[in-house]
Amino acid sequence: MATQVAKGGSSGGGGGSSGGGGGMEGKYCIVTGANSGIGFEVTRGLMQRGAHVVMACRNTAACEAAAERLRAEGLPGSCACRRLDLEDHSSIRAFAAQQADELAAAAAGPSAGGRSGAPHGRSQAAAGRGRIDVLVNNAGVMGVAPAPDGSDRHLTANHLGPYLLTRLLLPHMTAAPPLPSPAPACASAATAASTSAQANGSAAGSGDASGSSGKGEGAGAGDRAAGAGAGAGGGGGGRVVNVASRAHYGGRLALVTGPPGSEAIANDIRHWWWQYARSKLCNVLFTAELQRRYGAGGGGGKEGGGGAGGRYGITATAVSPGLVDTGIFRYLLPEWAQWLKAPLRPLGLFKTPAQGAEVVIYAASSPDLDVTSSLTPRGSAGGHTPLFLHGCREMQPSAAARDPRLAADLWRVSAALVGLPEEDAP
Ligand SMILES: NC(=O)c1ccc[n+]([C@@H]2O[C@H](COP(=O)([O-])OP(=O)(O)OC[C@H]3O[C@@H](n4cnc5c(N)ncnc54)[C@H](OP(=O)(O)O)[C@@H]3O)[C@@H](O)[C@H]2O)c1
Repeated sequence: MATQVAKGGSSGGGGGSSGGGGGMEGKYCIVTGANSGIGFEVTRGLMQRGAHVVMACRNTAACEAAAERLRAEGLPGSCACRRLDLEDHSSIRAFAAQQADELAAAAAGPSAGGRSGAPHGRSQAAAGRGRIDVLVNNAGVMGVAPAPDGSDRHLTANHLGPYLLTRLLLPHMTAAPPLPSPAPACASAATAASTSAQANGSAAGSGDASGSSGKGEGAGAGDRAAGAGAGAGGGGGGRVVNVASRAHYGGRLALVTGPPGSEAIANDIRHWWWQYARSKLCNVLFTAELQRRYGAGGGGGKEGGGGAGGRYGITATAVSPGLVDTGIFRYLLPEWAQWLKAPLRPLGLFKTPAQGAEVVIYAASSPDLDVTSSLTPRGSAGGHTPLFLHGCREMQPSAAARDPRLAADLWRVSAALVGLPEEDAP
């Protein structure tokens, strides 16, 4: 089942659009794995819309080279490289601590921001509110061999690392103000926009594209007021975009949920494809539990109880970029054999990285997904935050990905495995 979420509006998602004014001016974004593939294009798209992007990469030389390429384009936004290895918990903790320091220094003002590594100029302005607006968990691997200790690196890099990173950064994502203006919708979604909005019967979807655009601005003002009034419990938090995949439909997950200290994710899957599928299932389950615990509009803590009750107002979405021609296949095909992909290109099977980035940029920037839409219904999804988007359309994830017990258990087990308590301190 696919439900259109994006509404009409200007095209130019992904890396293809030009110019600024995309509603992300002054926003502070973090994109993991930003030096190549989809992450690079997401960074470009967010910079085109005026954001400051922290490019969180394990290879600092590759990151700096990518950042230089983007800076040379003269985009309205800015970027900075920071080191992050998602397979190394000490690296993740160091990255999070560095972010906290830099945000605090920037919020304290330019005089405090003069220390090494603290943001300057436009990035200082974005960091100056002391808050992270968007976290894109994009980095990932596919087809890697197990680690020397036999553990599944897909699980480590694609799920446990992003889980730890997100948990550590969530306290800095509280109550960011809603986006100031409608950002360009996904190019691939703009064409079919208003019709399926009507099909979903939302209030905002009953207008045509221009009508919804006008409505969007009015609703935006209302949302800002609502967000401001609602405080931490009523929306206005930052966004978490988890780059998942349709591969999650094949994922199976077996958890050991015994007494403290015995938690584990059963390491019983041998083939890389199923390991990858499982890690992507974890991405969707993690998103679902983020919505439940930390989302203002997603039922935060009501089902099953015990959650944080939506005190952060986080908008969390899992997205699938489709089949994209990136370097992710390098673990399966060595560099010299990459030409084997060539015969597939004319068949149109692959998206370009810029096309693959569209849904990520959409989830990161479009007001259609604002959590405050639960207060002022907007977007064809009828005011709820979609769990899983493919090609800017809401798509029903697998039954396993919609299992609330599995999502809650995965959260608990993951917390134990990365050495965090199940819940943050109030
Ligand atoms: N391409 C597709 O068809 C497709 C389809 C569905 C979903 N996806 C998802 O899209 C995301 C981006 O993949 P891509 O296709 O753009 O692949 P890519 O070009 O290989 O980019 C992956 C990025 O992740 C980084 N990364 C890998 N392991 C890391 C670690 N331990 N710590 C920090 N960074 C790490 C890589 O860094 P290095 O450069 O240092 O290796 C690289 O920057 C992944 O989550 C993938 O599962 C891709």
